[in-house]
Amino acid sequence: MTFNEKYTEYTDKINNRLEKAIGESDEITYRAMAYSLLAGGKRIRPALVLACCEALDGDMELALKYACAIEMIHTYSLIHDDLPCMDNDSLRRGRPTNHMVYGEAQALLAGDGLLNLAAEHIGGTEPHNAEKDIKAVFRLFSSSGAMGMIGGQADDIFAEAHGATKELVEKIHNRKTGALIRAAGELGAIAAGAREDIFHDYTAHLGLAFQIRDDILDVESSAETLGKSNSDADNNKATFVSVYGLEEAKRRLGEETAMALEAIGALGEKGWFLRELADYLLNRNS
Ligand code: IPE
Ligand code: IPE
Ligand code: MG
Ligand code: MG
Ligand code: MG
Repeated sequence: MTFNEKYTEYTDKINNRLEKAIGESDEITYRAMAYSLLAGGKRIRPALVLACCEALDGDMELALKYACAIEMIHTYSLIHDDLPCMDNDSLRRGRPTNHMVYGEAQALLAGDGLLNLAAEHIGGTEPHNAEKDIKAVFRLFSSSGAMGMIGGQADDIFAEAHGATKELVEKIHNRKTGALIRAAGELGAIAAGAREDIFHDYTAHLGLAFQIRDDILDVESSAETLGKSNSDADNNKATFVSVYGLEEAKRRLGEETAMALEAIGALGEKGWFLRELADYLLNRNS
């Protein structure tokens, strides 16, 4: 099976399950949630949950449940990230941002609704494994909380006004983006009944590489190609490119990817998809 075939197998499963999870309710908040959740997106985090679980021959149905929950949290973070009080962006996943369509108050609530839905999904969807589900909820919600993703977003906003050192930009990236990517590895490991931190080094390097690539694309690509606004310079963001320059950012991207690959060397053939995923993310254009 090729990388593209496997990736499509994962994203088809994820998209089908997300459609079911959001349901048909005509409640306005549900429609606003569905607008962003079902708008496409690369589905990197949920695909990573499935791939990590599969590399350990784990329970793929349980992994799919955790995969959908992490994508709900990621999508909520994007809706809030685009708000006028955050990055103030108008394009996301190839569509007008949530608040451009539903208004700011409703976009805020759609983000909140997706955050709740992540927990509802783990608690309310088959299959259940009480011990693993509790671990998964704890890891997912603490990674995306004030010590993780939310903390990183807070530092990102602080740095707009106060500037950033190299140390601060690494801390921002390791939390605002890295925390959720590390959580994806943990969820895959939990579904497989393995040690939670088994993918720690791989996902830590992959997560940093992912945000460095995002920073580079913000400068080198266009909103049309990205399907989202590229506003870092306008917002005076602290990015890898703004503190290190493009050339050093590209060198670090290569280095972090190489370290991610090294970290899963011991998986051998079982790690084939995770290896190709790191290469795909290194070279991605959107
Ligand atoms: C965008 O994430 C936000 C960052 C953490 C850089 P993605 O690049 O994964 O966005 P989607 O899910 O594909 O839209
Ligand atoms: C956002 O980082 C990270 C989160 C949403 C937590 P960015 O602000 O760089 O993401 P994009 O570029 O808008 O997707
Ligand atoms: Mg942002
Ligand atoms: Mg943004
Ligand atoms: Mg960005």
